[in-house]
Amino acid sequence: IILRQPIVAIDGPAGAGKSTVTRRVAKELGLLYLDTGAMYRAVTWLVMNSQIVVDDESAVAKIVKGVKIDLIPGNTPHLPVEVYINQQEVTQAIRTPEVTANVSAISAQAAVRKELVQAQQNYGVEGGIIAEGRDIGTNVFPDAELKIFLTASPQERAKRRLSDLQNQGYKDINLKQLEQEIIERDNKDSNRAIAPLKKADDAIEIITDRLSIEEVINKIKELYSNL
Ligand code: DC
Repeated sequence: IILRQPIVAIDGPAGAGKSTVTRRVAKELGLLYLDTGAMYRAVTWLVMNSQIVVDDESAVAKIVKGVKIDLIPGNTPHLPVEVYINQQEVTQAIRTPEVTANVSAISAQAAVRKELVQAQQNYGVEGGIIAEGRDIGTNVFPDAELKIFLTASPQERAKRRLSDLQNQGYKDINLKQLEQEIIERDNKDSNRAIAPLKKADDAIEIITDRLSIEEVINKIKELYSNL
């Protein structure tokens, strides 16, 4: 017998609209929102602020062992979840281009994934959760009742990332370069040995290029209501 509430898994590459959509759906359906990318970013931040290099796997493994990550929901869908690692607040600090550039190297490491997947599964034991990431439907919650693979073309994702960065106050960003970085990060995330970014066989793919956020949200809510 299943004694838990449903689990919704949202996977897909960077910039497909996952965070915005997942946050809104969580709010509207009353589900707990779990941003697993924030956890990989927080560990990346911690490593970058230690005296070790990101690809020193044994040093990273020591740092990540027993690490404490807290995700405190903001009380409106527009407020980001507050992120703490070992009691330090890193909500903004994990969103810098420097962290973004190093997160693939950290999230490819077995010790990191083992620790964080365990923490993510702990969040989900009772269900009633919507989790976004790269390996939620394939690996973290393979029994999720609803799995969505949200994607968009690299061109579209670069455009969206550009406006995000501009809203954060970054200037002089090159769209072509952003697109190139997105393609490289996709390649790294899709080709890594452990838990690569991959659509689960039973996931429903939604391509968001020509869809509004509202349309994507409504589609997911409709799928959820049919569970
Ligand atoms: O969704 P995001 O951009 O915040 O994720 C940051 C990085 O973390 C991304 O490059 C891939 C990695 N990641 C992962 O490997 N597995 C997850 N479940 C979530 C994110």
